[in-house]
Amino acid sequence: MSKPVTHYRKDYKPSAFLIDTVELCFKLEPHQTRVISKLKFKANEKQTPANSLFLNGENLKLIHIAINGKQLNSDRFTLSEEGLTLNDLPSEFLLETEVEIDPADNKALEGLYVSSNKFCTQCEAEGFRRITYFLDRPDIMATYSVRIEANRKDYPFLLSNGNKVKQGDLENGKHFVEWHDPFPKPSYLFALVAGDFDLRQSEFITQSGRRVALELFVDKGKLDQTEFAMQSLIAAMKWDEQTHNLEYDLDLYMIVAVGDFNMGAMENKGLNIFNTKYVLANPKTATDKDFEGVESVIGHEYFHNWTGNRVTCQDWFQLSLKEGLTVFRDQQFTSDLRSAAVKRIDDVKMIKSYQFAEDAGPMAHPIRPDEYIEMNNFYTVTVYNKGAEVIRMLHTLLGEQGYRKGMALYFKRHDGQAVTCDDFVNAMFDANSVDYPVFRNWYSQAGTPELAVNYEYDSAAKSLTLKLTQSGHHCSAVNPFLIPITLGFIGQTGESLSFSLNGESYEETTIIFEREEQTFIFDDVSQKPILSLLRNFSAPVKLNLKQSERELALLFAKDPNSYNRWDAGQRLMSLYLQTGNQNLISFIIEGFKSIINDDSVDNAFKARALSLPDYTAVLESLVDLSVDDLISRYRLLQNLISSELVQEWINIYNQFHAAGETELGATRIADRSLKNLALQYLNDADRSSEYIAYEQYKQANLMTDQLTALKCLVHYSEDKNHASEQFVTQWKNEALVMDKWFMVQATKDDDNVITDIKELFSHPQYDEKNPNKIRALITSFAALNFPQFHRADGQGYHLVVDAIKRIGRYNGQIAAGLTKQFNVVGKLDEKRKALVKELFKELIEDKALAKDVFEVASKTYELLNR
Ligand code: TRP
Ligand code: ZN
Repeated sequence: MSKPVTHYRKDYKPSAFLIDTVELCFKLEPHQTRVISKLKFKANEKQTPANSLFLNGENLKLIHIAINGKQLNSDRFTLSEEGLTLNDLPSEFLLETEVEIDPADNKALEGLYVSSNKFCTQCEAEGFRRITYFLDRPDIMATYSVRIEANRKDYPFLLSNGNKVKQGDLENGKHFVEWHDPFPKPSYLFALVAGDFDLRQSEFITQSGRRVALELFVDKGKLDQTEFAMQSLIAAMKWDEQTHNLEYDLDLYMIVAVGDFNMGAMENKGLNIFNTKYVLANPKTATDKDFEGVESVIGHEYFHNWTGNRVTCQDWFQLSLKEGLTVFRDQQFTSDLRSAAVKRIDDVKMIKSYQFAEDAGPMAHPIRPDEYIEMNNFYTVTVYNKGAEVIRMLHTLLGEQGYRKGMALYFKRHDGQAVTCDDFVNAMFDANSVDYPVFRNWYSQAGTPELAVNYEYDSAAKSLTLKLTQSGHHCSAVNPFLIPITLGFIGQTGESLSFSLNGESYEETTIIFEREEQTFIFDDVSQKPILSLLRNFSAPVKLNLKQSERELALLFAKDPNSYNRWDAGQRLMSLYLQTGNQNLISFIIEGFKSIINDDSVDNAFKARALSLPDYTAVLESLVDLSVDDLISRYRLLQNLISSELVQEWINIYNQFHAAGETELGATRIADRSLKNLALQYLNDADRSSEYIAYEQYKQANLMTDQLTALKCLVHYSEDKNHASEQFVTQWKNEALVMDKWFMVQATKDDDNVITDIKELFSHPQYDEKNPNKIRALITSFAALNFPQFHRADGQGYHLVVDAIKRIGRYNGQIAAGLTKQFNVVGKLDEKRKALVKELFKELIEDKALAKDVFEVASKTYELLNR
């Protein structure tokens, strides 16, 4: 490994040369693909002239190189592991190169690779340099023309970005297709696909009346799993027209699903490439949650066409410019199509369970990072999901209309450009003639602000004084954050109280807290209220507000804001986990009963409100509690909830279970989420409930029902009827369904689980070259099986570190993702810290370690040595 280099945001400099047009010709062969490139360079007039130039290029075999038609002598260029330096350059020139690459041997799944006999590409962030020599940075936007040649029998479809302009036959059973993309784009949006597929076609007519052909390419035999994805695409196209007046700009939109993919999906211009997980879905193979995932990722990639592609990032430090914004857009899309209240709870869970941990861990970074070793490591919940929270706060500050005005100005100013997060915020503020300078600190400071709340009620004056302090920032945060706090007050019997602020009367309002310490005075408060703060999670902060179990129980039962209601329940349970105070149990059980019997909320909300907080969410808020105590209290609480409410779970199950049903409407999805939760509690309470789970297993027509039943049988019983084996027999040929089975095996809280996982490494359906399989069996163990991953004997850590070493030899991105599972180390006890420390010391000494893994592992090790 060459010594890892750190890249800094402050070092950004525009390139001395720009590229106008790119002509690529691919002669595809699995092991010996030739890439011939013609690039038109010209000096960047805004920069000081240069006569030498470095082009990125990795794992390329240079066959030929010429400038302005003349072959280059070796004294005019130098080659290194990282690229090619050209010398003695004129201010304008045509560079021709021919390189050879080996896609079939590419197990990193970055650049051009082969996935089950099909060629495909993944160029974001810095994969294009594995295809040809180039200025592989997002501020180099060029127009691409692409010619693909391959044999027709194996590769009847030859796809790239833009419009198809020409096709024809060649000798020896080969054929070619030529593509032209009229929109200038950065190299990370380049895509190529070649192979044989089944194709689903449809059409969308835009609001201005243009016809767009929609094409969805999947593995042969999977057409019956494509209808939902196509409907989702059409819904997304409509939504962006209706809400943002944004129309699609090419005549063709293609989506290709591949089984080997490092992430969820990729927004390449006109040719999205997707992980099969976010395309293939029918009721037999996909759960209700999977359907929602497909819809939201299809939406996400589609929305990138404007937020990402038409307006892109100046440099990779600005990644949140497109990702935070596009996540916010896909969240709004899902809220509009489904339940806004439930979607909000699910999004906040992501933040509390994963983002807070990242922000407190070894890899903490602002949503606009200042440095990186490997850019792939910064496709994080911070950049994506906290980034979306920052956009949401802008939306809260400006209102829906103000937000839309800002978006319109952003496109007016920057269409066709590569810009920065500052440019985005400026457009938002300028369009509304406002400025919130303190708000910008969200972009530059890492860490989760903690809010301390003090309040006093003056019964004579009927006023409430609220004193807020923010602190506990990550060490880099020295300036305060601007924190919008949506709030309301609840009376002692649960009614909503009105109040006045600065002469205006409200039942709910948003205050702006933007100093270290600030005091707000509310008048006309008729009685001493219970505070309901940070409604809808109006800012990504930790709220340190001490409320009694009685107050929390009242908020859980009565808060008019459903997010806060959910949160009160989670806080009540966390309080028990923290203190072990038995008195809390009856408040929790009573709270659960009041939710169960509340006719004013839907079953999807109930299912969330009646679920324990994730271990990782709890761990974040714990002080001085040992992991052993956390695990035993967590198990005890779950057991009590299961057994104390057995009759309730039975009633729910009987009321909402419909044997063998096939209904997919929103109400039934909600009913199923609640009754399947009840089934799990029932099985946890009592092994003899196994027969109910097995009945459901046998009769299920929907994967949601089949999978929950399987989970109950594997996690809580002996599985006397061998449902687990039946499942494999039934689904061994459906890779995505087998992923679910591996995940069920990996997440059982059973002391044998480590041995079982090791055996599964040689299961015929397991394949460690496939990221979905690794995520199903190893990542899910580390992320979702807290008690076993954090076993006191260290076997859980061992299992994962061994996997990091194996996988790191060929796929650094996936191995680094596994390494990030250790980001909670700072919260562990000394015994566990020592176990991790020993393993990581050895890990970072490995000379062959991928730089992706090195970056994460060395920072984790550093944190352990602090
Ligand atoms: N831009 C993609 C998205 O937001 C993310 C992505 C897909 C990606 N594949 C990747 C990022 C590979 C880095 C590496 O949907
Ligand atoms: Zn994205």
